Amino acid sequence: MGSKVVKTETPVDGVQPQPSTALAIDGLTKTSKMKVKWSQLGLIFFLLLSVIMTSCFIWQYQLPKLEQDGNLDGNSRSVRMCPRFPEPTTLEHPIPSLKEALEKVDFVLRNRINPISLPALSAIVIYNDTVLWTGNFGKRNGSDPNSPPPNEYTIYRIASLSKLFPTLMLYRLWEDGKVGSLDDPLEKYVDIFTIKNPLGKSKDSELKYVTDGLIFLDSGEVQIRSSSVTLRRMASQLSGLPRRLRATNLLWKGKTQTAVSLLQDDVLVADPGTKCHYSNLAFSLLAHVLAEKVVGVNYQRWIAENILGRLGMEDTGFDINPGIQSQMAVGVYSSGATAPLYDLGWYRPSGQMYSTAADMAKLAMVLLGAYQRKLLEPDTLKIMLTPLFRCDKDYFANRTGTPWEVNEQLGYEVLRKDGDLDGYSATFSLVPRLKLGLVVLMAGTRPQNQDVVSKAYSYIIPAMERAFREARRVLNSPPNPAPYVGFYTYGNITFYEIKAGPDGVLIMQQFGPQIEDLIPERYRTIKLNYLVDRVFRVVFEKEYPCVLRVNTASVSLEAQDGQLFNFYVFDKNGLSPGFDAPGLNTYNVVRIARRPTFS
Ligand SMILES: *[C@@H]1O[C@H](CO)[C@@H](O)[C@H](O)[C@H]1NC(C)=O
Ligand SMILES: *[C@@H]1O[C@H](CO)[C@@H](O)[C@H](O)[C@H]1NC(C)=O
Ligand SMILES: *[C@@H]1O[C@H](CO)[C@@H](O)[C@H](O)[C@H]1NC(C)=O
Ligand SMILES: *[C@@H]1O[C@H](CO)[C@@H](O)[C@H](O)[C@H]1NC(C)=O
Repeated sequence: MGSKVVKTETPVDGVQPQPSTALAIDGLTKTSKMKVKWSQLGLIFFLLLSVIMTSCFIWQYQLPKLEQDGNLDGNSRSVRMCPRFPEPTTLEHPIPSLKEALEKVDFVLRNRINPISLPALSAIVIYNDTVLWTGNFGKRNGSDPNSPPPNEYTIYRIASLSKLFPTLMLYRLWEDGKVGSLDDPLEKYVDIFTIKNPLGKSKDSELKYVTDGLIFLDSGEVQIRSSSVTLRRMASQLSGLPRRLRATNLLWKGKTQTAVSLLQDDVLVADPGTKCHYSNLAFSLLAHVLAEKVVGVNYQRWIAENILGRLGMEDTGFDINPGIQSQMAVGVYSSGATAPLYDLGWYRPSGQMYSTAADMAKLAMVLLGAYQRKLLEPDTLKIMLTPLFRCDKDYFANRTGTPWEVNEQLGYEVLRKDGDLDGYSATFSLVPRLKLGLVVLMAGTRPQNQDVVSKAYSYIIPAMERAFREARRVLNSPPNPAPYVGFYTYGNITFYEIKAGPDGVLIMQQFGPQIEDLIPERYRTIKLNYLVDRVFRVVFEKEYPCVLRVNTASVSLEAQDGQLFNFYVFDKNGLSPGFDAPGLNTYNVVRIARRPTFS
């Protein structure tokens, strides 16, 4: 049993060497029925939005920029529509364009099933706290003609997706104060940890570590005892630690103590923090050290009690016993041969776990901050979902996060964790900005000819953007509109009228001599969403051109969308004398008694 030789940096692991897949035979497979689950959430709007205002607001019209752009042919198709990154909002299902996109995703995944190399696949699409769609294709046991299709509760090995859990543990212990800093060096927790770092040579860091008391002086020579292998870097493929321990494969059954001593005469393959380098060793060592040295409990037990139990991930775990096996999709090599259910031993934190689409969906909702059970504070989630480092071209992802691989698609950061282990492949992915998640679990070999996850997102992302742009917004009216209603001016150049709509929500319209001639009314009207006392937010209810071109002038509507208006304290008549829009660097928009007359 040899370990797989991987020449380029890829996430693929496995115990048995595998030839790369033969051409996938597409379109020959029987498929199972898809299920489209539309959210059944109450989609009741509190406000009557019978009058739908198409609204744009030419706040800075009086300060036109000269348009340098040669694209003046008036071709409306070339106009970029905004908001470019529409905010996730409550969706009112069904949404035909989203349904159509999910049907395309269904088609793509259904046709990746291959009776030899990929007999079963389960996928789930999450939006915030809801499941938008699930797809289960193929057969749980490819070699049994009577085998049923998998479902959301079918168990798959998730391979390197297991690396999510040491990372979650790190963040939790950090929140609990049991880990002082994410940037603590490993030596703080394992005092005998040393490894050669021939590529690290910064004098500054030597001095820094003197003050940390982590180096010793020996015959006048400064020697670095700290390797800068920090906890965060270990969970971000930035530690410089080798892929595995010397002369071990993923089945190694040693102890952490032995692992640390094996490292003593090993070398870091990169100066920590300077290069993305995939390491199973780093995650396993991190997990075992946190468990043994920080909480003093076995790693698996800690994960089971503090994460799986807490989130209700009932079908997720480490030990593949006969009961679990009977619920599993049967994993195969690309040849179709059934893969053994290897037990990874010391490397278990990096790749041993199994789970289901339903459980992974719960985890996705937790990380999107939307699940009813909480694991991490919102600020910690923000840190967790932020990429850390740009990788070299030879790495398989553009950026690395903790623990993610991050690439951009259609302008959005897509965070992924991919796993490939004998017989199974899996991807867990999030698009935080859209509150989207997609999990694909496969019994078999990942299709080599196409990345099904980015293909799926190429349909889902535009459909979600469109759904958000077209969604009706629930706007708040102020407790009493009277103090805000009236006429305002900014420097006697631009003029505004604020009225209360039938639902009490404030409507603001710009007027004035040139404005009315040049700009259609729908581009002069906005709504003001009441947030807190005297503070409102500019709302564009519909798609709008990011930049509005009027003759030779251009106005960025994008810059105005979402800005805050801060109204002044009410005067003795109970009226607000004016307001500021600090985000637009605009102050002293003052109330005037009546509509001015223009000569
Ligand atoms: C997301 O889910 C949370 C929790 O259910 C909810 O409070 C929030 O309003 C949702 N956000 C959107 C945009 O639907
Ligand atoms: C899958 O089906 C084959 C053929 O019926 C059977 O021999 C094998 O034991 C099954 N595998 C599992 C894990 O159930
Ligand atoms: C990295 O980014 C570049 C440019 O944005 C893109 O062409 C390339 O495909 C990306 N690499 C990966 C692995 O996604
Ligand atoms: C605007 O016009 C009014 C009336 O003509 C005048 O009193 C006021 O000073 C002017 N304000 C500015 C900022 O020019």
